[in-house]
Amino acid sequence: MAQPEWINRYLQDFDVQPEQMGQRISAGRQHTIYRYGVDEVIKIPQRSLYMKVYGPFHHETIVRDLNILLEHLGEFIIPTRVLQSRTDPDDYVIVQQWLPQSEFLTGLNYPATGDDLQRITEGNRAIIQKYRVSVDFLGNIGFQQCLKASLMRQPQRACMNNLLVVPGAERPCIRIADTNLSELRFHYHAEVGLFQWVIDSALFQITRLLIHDNFGVELL
Ligand SMILES: Nc1ncnc2c1ncn2[C@@H]1O[C@H](COP(=O)(O)OP(=O)(O)OP(=O)(O)O)[C@@H](O)[C@H]1O
Ligand SMILES: [Mg+2]
Repeated sequence: MAQPEWINRYLQDFDVQPEQMGQRISAGRQHTIYRYGVDEVIKIPQRSLYMKVYGPFHHETIVRDLNILLEHLGEFIIPTRVLQSRTDPDDYVIVQQWLPQSEFLTGLNYPATGDDLQRITEGNRAIIQKYRVSVDFLGNIGFQQCLKASLMRQPQRACMNNLLVVPGAERPCIRIADTNLSELRFHYHAEVGLFQWVIDSALFQITRLLIHDNFGVELL
């Protein structure tokens, strides 16, 4: 198995079959992602300095976010299960259907996806109003690429790595790969730290500007 030892140990507490673990496909800000079995991926929370400062996600919040998304943006959500640790109820892993033919949403491919982005932002406005949380549109690579695209005035270079474009029967469609929602309001809850709220709120405002600049879409 290719994954580090701490991941093998972490997974021992979950209903996960170690022999189904496959190749690593991404190491993002919040999760490391591996293929799992034939048609799934498994997302394991990062143990980075960034996540220590940001504050770890907890099982309860991950489930809450997924349920909010299913309520308001269900058609864009990839079949996803959140597993809970047998020893620490806060610990989780996410198992999600693998999208083998997906691409990041970019300045070039998004016009072909029809009004999917518009519908996602509409659903997200309802989520913000009701829960004061938001879809995290850009992701790590997306944030960097959108920033570069804005600075260089080249919107075709912009991308969102949390939104994936997949082939559809009539036209390509958008799917939301990242089901973690950004906190826009500070709660005195153990699961949402002060830094998480500060980082999420600041990133949301910058994301708003970048998405408007590169995709011409208003988040609020
Ligand atoms: N279901 C999936 N099928 C195929 N690829 C996926 C899937 N889920 C995630 N990925 C790949 O992994 C990347 C990161 O996924 P995700 O956003 O869930 O993790 P993250 O920790 O938030 O990473 P980041 O900080 O880069 O956004 C995606 O941009 C995509 O390339
Ligand atoms: Mg992401």
